[in-house]
Amino acid sequence: MPRRLRDLGRQRGRLISRDRRSGRRQNGGRPTEMRWRSGGGRSSIRFRGRTPDPGHVALQFMRAAQVCDWQQVLACMLIDLTFQITAYYTDIKKRFVHHFGRWGAPLTPENIDLSRNDPPYAGDNGMTTEALFSPGRLGAIEVANRVAMAPLTRARGDMEGIQTPLAVEYYGKRASAGLIISEATNISRQGRGYAFTPGIYTDTQVEAWKPVARAVHARGGKMVLQLWHVGRFSHASLQENGAPPVAPSAIEAGDMVFTEHGFEPPSKPRELETGEIDGIIADYVRAARNARTAGFDGVEIHAANCYLLEQFIRDSTNHRTDRYGGSIENRTRLPFEVCEAVAGAIGADRVGIRLSPVTHSVGATPFDSEPQKTYGFLAERLGTLGLAYLHCIEGQTRGANLPESFDFQALRRSFGGSYIANNGFTREIALTAARSGRADMVAFGRPFISNPDLVERLRQDEPLAPEAHKEFFYGGGSRGYTDWPDFVSR
Ligand SMILES: Cc1cc2nc3c(=O)[nH]c(=O)nc-3n(C[C@H](O)[C@H](O)[C@H](O)COP(=O)(O)O)c2cc1C
Repeated sequence: MPRRLRDLGRQRGRLISRDRRSGRRQNGGRPTEMRWRSGGGRSSIRFRGRTPDPGHVALQFMRAAQVCDWQQVLACMLIDLTFQITAYYTDIKKRFVHHFGRWGAPLTPENIDLSRNDPPYAGDNGMTTEALFSPGRLGAIEVANRVAMAPLTRARGDMEGIQTPLAVEYYGKRASAGLIISEATNISRQGRGYAFTPGIYTDTQVEAWKPVARAVHARGGKMVLQLWHVGRFSHASLQENGAPPVAPSAIEAGDMVFTEHGFEPPSKPRELETGEIDGIIADYVRAARNARTAGFDGVEIHAANCYLLEQFIRDSTNHRTDRYGGSIENRTRLPFEVCEAVAGAIGADRVGIRLSPVTHSVGATPFDSEPQKTYGFLAERLGTLGLAYLHCIEGQTRGANLPESFDFQALRRSFGGSYIANNGFTREIALTAARSGRADMVAFGRPFISNPDLVERLRQDEPLAPEAHKEFFYGGGSRGYTDWPDFVSR
């Protein structure tokens, strides 16, 4: 066998180039990747990446495929040409995505994120993927890489808020994420706004979470539990004795809530008495302690997506006149006091917080009148607590990022600690964010639903599975939940 052929590894019917010196598989960058798939009597060939000598690659391929007649030589030359054109095109595409976030987006002012001061595109060879896949630390939590799994409500529990063994399999399969942030988890019955979502306020719920934490740890992963109170975004049928949901002020939410009977409009909330607020803080503390008992590495306080804590922050949903309403200091008091109390109970370095200053969802919630000032004030105060991290949805949740409405880097500076960025990240944007230091971690949401091994796919620049259909998002069983294959087993 010619010496060069030894450079080619045969893995599951495909040929993959290896680094000549180290013999290691070359991932993500300049090296050549050649694939040879044969099925149904027909062979298909795929080249990826860029090679300094495409003709040589074609020759290697022919030898590997044991072909030698002139038609095959011609075919390989054609493949070679196609390959070069594709490589050129791919690079242009990557440059575009690097600077503008998305391929194919029209270059209108709304689509250009001027706050991204990215360095020139330098390719994504071994050096540049390093940052995203390098270990790090968020407070007391050591992470194996900088890819976090964003919290994803999947509504596969029961109506008592108890996880089923399916959740053990689901989270266990995603343990290669540097950090898993669990689906939002109710801190109390009052805090519940979606049917079949898990809780962390009863002993049975805690017991059901234990094997989840164990499964993630057994595979070397880290996991925090996201603590949730939905506030006004609920329905009386989900509350104890059909009580109305609670909120900072009695202002009805828009949108639809997910109940046992399908989607229904949210019920009109009642305004919380000042004297009830200590009880809500105590619920967060109990939930955080329970999360530690269940084996989680920490908790994330859910102050995003217009649920209770964000309803207090925004002047659009908070019309109170007590010490929790009015001034910015008063409106941000509850999220601050929750973080302070939870940090006191389990250690600040195991507590993160999630914010989303410029999202309307959920509940068609209007923005605060001065988001930069309000959230900046909160971030600065939170910074004094020494929390593990600040996690931001950098735009309209699941929609466009809105750089002209908010400066997230300024928010990050006010906070002064570790920062997780989320919303619509692609591999290219994540690599750039990690490399340039724009974020300490990048959280992926939807891609983790259909790609349990997302980290490995990103690392190897493997194509991602198509986004899961929305019918699989909430409720149901294993279908669309635990049955997404790893790319190696496809
Ligand atoms: C099915 C689904 C469930 C979600 N559940 C939560 C949740 O429980 N808590 C939360 O903070 N965000 C939740 N989100 C928002 C995601 O965490 C994330 O912010 C959003 O999907 C944008 O990230 P992506 O573009 O990587 O998907 C959910 C999103 C989806 C699609």
